[in-house]
Amino acid sequence: MSNHVFGHCINPDCGATYDIEESLFSCRACGDLLDARYDWDRMEVPDKLSWFEQRWASRDNRLDFSGVWRFRELLGFCNESDCVTIGEGQTLLQQNDQVAQYAGLDKGRLFLEYEGLNPSGSFKDNGMAGAFSHAKMVGAGHVLCASTGNTSASMAMYAHSCGMKCSVFIGSGRIAYGKLSQALDFGARTIQILGDFDDCMRQVKDICQKKNLYLMNSLNPFRLEGQKTIMYRVLERLGWQVPDWVIVPGGNLGNSSSFGKAFDELKYLGLIDRVPRLAVINATGANTLFDLYENKGLRFNGGKVDDAAIDDYYRKLNETGYKPHTLATAIEISRPVNLKKCLRALEICNGLVREVTDADILQAKAVVGRYGLGCEPASAASVAGLKLLRQEGIVNDGETVVCILTGHQLKDPNATVNYHVEGQGEFSNRPVEVENDIRAIIEALDG
Ligand code: F0G
Repeated sequence: MSNHVFGHCINPDCGATYDIEESLFSCRACGDLLDARYDWDRMEVPDKLSWFEQRWASRDNRLDFSGVWRFRELLGFCNESDCVTIGEGQTLLQQNDQVAQYAGLDKGRLFLEYEGLNPSGSFKDNGMAGAFSHAKMVGAGHVLCASTGNTSASMAMYAHSCGMKCSVFIGSGRIAYGKLSQALDFGARTIQILGDFDDCMRQVKDICQKKNLYLMNSLNPFRLEGQKTIMYRVLERLGWQVPDWVIVPGGNLGNSSSFGKAFDELKYLGLIDRVPRLAVINATGANTLFDLYENKGLRFNGGKVDDAAIDDYYRKLNETGYKPHTLATAIEISRPVNLKKCLRALEICNGLVREVTDADILQAKAVVGRYGLGCEPASAASVAGLKLLRQEGIVNDGETVVCILTGHQLKDPNATVNYHVEGQGEFSNRPVEVENDIRAIIEALDG
C-alpha cells in the first residue's frame, strides 16, 4: 500500500483520514462523504499533460490502452498489478456543427464526448475500472450496487471479468430494457425492489455496511477517480486546451463531482491554468439539485454546507410522498448521494444548474440521433441544457462547449421507438406501412 494516498473526509470541520485499504464509503467519525486524496509532493506526476501522449505508442500494454489507466499518474491509488481494465475509455470527442446549430451555438464550437463507446455502453466503465481495482486491492469477494440501469450493467460486466460475485438492486419497472438485459446476461444476482432508485440506494448502503460487502455506487470514491479521466480525454482531444463549458446530466451526481475534482487537481498541479465552467442538467421530474442550488441558494461554502437545509428538503419530500418521475430513467433520482461533492464541483468551476423537460430531452435526443452518434434520453439532457443556456444568453457567442453523452442509444430502445412511432415530436421519423406491392412501395419512397 502506498502512503501517499489516503481516504479523506470532505467536511473541513472533521477532515478525518483513513487508510486506503479500508473499504469505507462514508466517514466513520461524521458520516460525510470521502475522497481519495493524494500527497502530490510524494508522487511522480508529469510536468505537462502532453507527456501522456507517449502512451499512444504502447497500446499493446493493457494499461496504456485503457482510457483510464493511461493517466494512472493522476489516480495512482493502487499498484499496476491491481489495476483492472477491460479496455474502457476508447471514446470519441466529436465536433458536431449540426447539433451546435440546433442548440444555437457557433460552428466549430460544440464537442460531444461520446461515452456510449465504452464496453458496457456508458461512462460508468471509467468508474468501475477505478473501483474494481480498489476492490481487488482489498480482496473484495461480493460487490453490490443500486442502479437505474447503467451502473448495474457496468458492474456486472467488470465483476464477471474479475471473478467476483455481484448483486444489483433495481427499482421495479424503472429500468430500460437494454440495461436490464446486460445485468442479466452478465450473471448479476438481480434484485428488483418494490420501490424506486432512492429506496434501493438506502438499502444497499445499509446492507453493505451491515454485512461488510463492497459497494460499487459512486459513493465509492474510487469510482470517481476513474471518472476523472473523462475530462483528461476531453482535454487530450482538444489539444490540451480547456473548453469554456462542460455540460453534464445530473443524477446521483458522481460525474459532475469527479469532473470538479479532476480540474481542481490539474489546476493545483499546474497542468492547466484555468478551469471550465460546469453546467449540471437535471430533468424537471427529478430536480433536487436544481431546486436546492438555484432556488434555495444552497452552496458548498468551502465545505460548510447547510446540512439542516438539505435535511429539511428531504423531510418535505418524505412528508409529501414525492417520487421523481422522468422518462430519462437513468437520472430519475431525488436524493443524490454525491450532492455535497457536486456542490464542491460547482464552486470549483463557477457552475450552475438547469432543469429541462422530458419533451426537451426527447427532442435533443432525436437531434443527436439524426446528426450525431445517438444517445439515451438522460444523455441528451446535456444538449437540451446547452440550448437553454444559449437562449438565456449565459453561454456566450464563440465559447467552446463540451456536452457529455453519457450512454449509448441502444440502452433504451423503447424511448426512441415510442418517440418516432407515436410522432411525439418535431424530429419523429414514423415508419411507413404499405401493401406488399411494388407500386405502393415506390410511391412510399417518394413520400
Ligand atoms: N447519464 C446516464 C446514462 C446515467 O446512467 C446516469 C446515472 C447519469 C447520466 C447520471 O450520472 O449519477 O453521475 O449524475 N446512472 C446511475 C445508474 C444512477 O444507476 O446507472 P450521475
